[in-house]
Amino acid sequence: MPIEPAEFALADESATARLGTALARAIEAEAKAIGAHGLVVGLAGELGAGKTSLVRAALRALGVTGPVRSPTFTLVEPYIVSSLNFYHFDFYRLTDPEEFSFAGFREMFGPAAVCLIEWPEKAAGHVPQADLRIALRVAGEGRHAGVTAATELGAACLQRIETEMARRAA
Ligand SMILES: Nc1ncnc2c1ncn2[C@@H]1O[C@H](COP(=O)(O)OP(=O)(O)OP(=O)(O)O)[C@@H](O)[C@H]1O
Ligand SMILES: [Mg+2]
Repeated sequence: MPIEPAEFALADESATARLGTALARAIEAEAKAIGAHGLVVGLAGELGAGKTSLVRAALRALGVTGPVRSPTFTLVEPYIVSSLNFYHFDFYRLTDPEEFSFAGFREMFGPAAVCLIEWPEKAAGHVPQADLRIALRVAGEGRHAGVTAATELGAACLQRIETEMARRAA
């Protein structure tokens, strides 16, 4: 089920939050499939592109009320959202891709796990393939997001994200 990548102009931080909320709605809608297979979301983009902002908005939309901290130093922050396990990774400080496996991160992936990964390229060759890739970049005063699906589950999520973003823009 190939699906075209989607492009979103994010004029300000609230637009980034809208995309995060749309991702949350897609995760909720696909909860059954995610329960069976898990979901891996790769977040690409330079320092300050808005990766953490996007994850924070998604977690807020899923009902997380406590602090959502950047996993810059801890490498991973876990959350439990209803029946799903959320792992927010940031591999910027990984010194070697092999560290991913040594640290036992591989065991966090699998059924019922939603893994949102900043700087996945730092664990290249070790981190499982992403279902969905969100690439953020600075565009003028705002940001630009490109969302690509690499699996059928990713495509299902992307379709729901597009519907949700269109609904919110209307
Ligand atoms: N659409 C937007 N337009 C303008 N500013 C934005 C937008 N979205 C987020 N920001 C701002 O950009 C900054 C992004 O910081 P954030 O920590 O989310 O980046 P990051 O991609 O996670 O960086 P790092 O690689 O250092 O972890 C924040 O100050 C946030 O308020
Ligand atoms: Mg970050």
